[in-house]
Amino acid sequence: MSKAAKVVAALKVEELTERQARGEHKRLADEIGHHDKLYHEKDAPEISDADYDKLRQRLKAIEAKFPQLVDMFSPTQRVAPTPTTAFTKVTHRRPMLSLDNAFTDEELQGFLDRVRRGLERETDLTPDAEIAFSCEAKIDGLSISLRYENGEFVQGATRGDGTTGEDVTANLKTIKDIPQKLKGKGVPSSLDVRGEVYMERKAFLELNERQVAAGEKAYVNPRNTAAGSLRQLDPEITAERPLRFFAYAWGEAEPRSWKTHSEYLKMLKEWGFKTNPLTRLCRTGDAVRAFYRKIGEERPDLPYDIDGVVYKVDRIDWQERLGFVSRAPRWAIAHKFPAEQARTRLNGINIQVGRTGALTPVAELEPVNVGGVVVARATLHNADEIERLDVRVGDMVTIQRAGDVIPQVLGFVPEERPKSARKYHFPTHCPCPLKTEVKAGEGGVVRRCSGGLECPFQQVERLRYFVSRNCFDIEGLGGTHIENFFEDGLLKTPADIFRLRDKEREIRKREGWGDLSVRNLLAAIDARRTISLDRFINALGIPLIGEATAKILAQEYGDADVWLTEMLKAARERKKAPDDVKKEKAAAEVGESYGRLCNVEQIGVTTADAMCAFFGEGHTVDIIKDLLKQLTVEAVKRRVVAADAPLKDKIVVFTGELSTMTRDAAKARAEELGAKVTDSVSKKTSLVVVGENAGSKARKAAELGVQTLTEEEWAKLSA
Ligand code: IVH
Repeated sequence: MSKAAKVVAALKVEELTERQARGEHKRLADEIGHHDKLYHEKDAPEISDADYDKLRQRLKAIEAKFPQLVDMFSPTQRVAPTPTTAFTKVTHRRPMLSLDNAFTDEELQGFLDRVRRGLERETDLTPDAEIAFSCEAKIDGLSISLRYENGEFVQGATRGDGTTGEDVTANLKTIKDIPQKLKGKGVPSSLDVRGEVYMERKAFLELNERQVAAGEKAYVNPRNTAAGSLRQLDPEITAERPLRFFAYAWGEAEPRSWKTHSEYLKMLKEWGFKTNPLTRLCRTGDAVRAFYRKIGEERPDLPYDIDGVVYKVDRIDWQERLGFVSRAPRWAIAHKFPAEQARTRLNGINIQVGRTGALTPVAELEPVNVGGVVVARATLHNADEIERLDVRVGDMVTIQRAGDVIPQVLGFVPEERPKSARKYHFPTHCPCPLKTEVKAGEGGVVRRCSGGLECPFQQVERLRYFVSRNCFDIEGLGGTHIENFFEDGLLKTPADIFRLRDKEREIRKREGWGDLSVRNLLAAIDARRTISLDRFINALGIPLIGEATAKILAQEYGDADVWLTEMLKAARERKKAPDDVKKEKAAAEVGESYGRLCNVEQIGVTTADAMCAFFGEGHTVDIIKDLLKQLTVEAVKRRVVAADAPLKDKIVVFTGELSTMTRDAAKARAEELGAKVTDSVSKKTSLVVVGENAGSKARKAAELGVQTLTEEEWAKLSA
């Protein structure tokens, strides 16, 4: 982040000028997008739920004050990123929506008041009439939709982006809590049962132990383990994972005989589902608050993670009257719990060297139970954080496990600081065998080993990254294997992985490697000799280039040779140019290849420079060329718009709230039909689709005489 951006990030929303708000809105949207991806697609979040929620809250507050900044790309307008492609896609018969969050008593009261006002407006509810809420524990798992036809389980899918999910039927069939055939009365002939797949804490800990022993990466928490388990391509692996399921909602239900949510929960039980026992019907605000407190107290002792309580208006006719706003129902809310905390002794601080050389201090803790999960290590982020917190080795510290990520150290307990507590001195030299001097990196916060490609710690981390799930995804070659093979000289660079066949005998001699496991490993490696260009780019671990950017680059350059030649040219051009470059002038002042790279969507000068620095090292290029000899990198099939696409060359804008589809889905459909979707209305716009509560864009369309469509008309046109 630039200095100016940091200043803006520290301001209260009320203090922002419109210009600052615009920048801050974009920064938050990008950051949220990044975390959404980590959470939904990689099952590997980097920040806590609480911190994520804070980002979203700030974004929402900015949008409330500056509604002109709301656009279809804002995270507030979408449910979750589109699913990745390994499974067949399933379009939900009714969208799977999300819930709005309340964090404070005031926010809860706001919800209760809104529901009451809404019902007074929409129905004949009298001011003193009771509104019953079904109050339920919010299970921290992943939501899925199960389709039953005439009582028979036929298909199950993940939520995905809310409109389209992934077909994980085979995996769901391995879960005992999911009935294959429904029993009892009143089963609708066409029914989607919705609920949460989760893993119990104990099962999570046991599985993780096995995972680590097998050299695979440990999962960070039960939720991610459940998500990862459900998305296994081999249902036999899912079957070995103790997944559970609680049912709590429905999508389509024809015919539907229940009139309240609580009646539905009862029926679910009769049909053979598990419903969560922490459920109660509350008729007053006080009862709702008391329920929240009670569940909060029980939370640490529950066998599974929950992250809040959900309140739902019980009467379904009232739910229907209240309706939805873009991504969430007006009749329900999630009241979140704060992150779980505990106190324990800080026994020591270790330094971990990451794949780009960043040194991360890790707190070694006296193992402690935090909300049901045993924690022995926590991150301290960086040297500045240790300074800021003033934690010392020997201190009693407060740690937080925010349900989802690597636990964090929050601070020390002053009354319990022992005399012997020692201040930690951040190493001036990397703990790697090269003992290089540690240098401050970007923004001065991160300290890095300056050994670069020569540093063996970084080499191992890069190899680990190379084989990880979103890169080459080599099954059976986990982090610990990489470390051991590296230590014993079997592997040094990525290309060596593809030469392991020549070392078959040596591997067989190693402890824990039998005939079958060696054969499986070599087969798994062979299976990855052909790879897509985006995975290939991602796997190289170029600083600042992640999965999303790798995809964009693959689209832009199309083929590995073209990409490589262009990157080398860009790096050469950059070396000769002055330090300070502007994106707009890059092609003219630096060179054609650098200019092209800079102007690729989402790239810009900083990322382009990181790329050039990477390709400026002769050593890197040799490693990549060596690797390419072992591989076939597939060229990208570019998206081409058919000449007869119905909306070819049309520019479409969506504005206002859509009720039957998500913005993302509507946009994707428009693009499928050949349109370009943009964000602002101008004379060039061909069509504006106007949803509920549309504002300035609809007005502008009218002023300019641009054609407008209602959501219904759009649905017909695009069907
Ligand atoms: S109701 C339209 N009930 O929380 C409302 N959701 O933050 C649909 N969740 O996507 C959701 N426990 O994955 C509902 N008892 C519960 C829940 C629950 C957990 C999850 C679900 C949902 C997310 C929203």
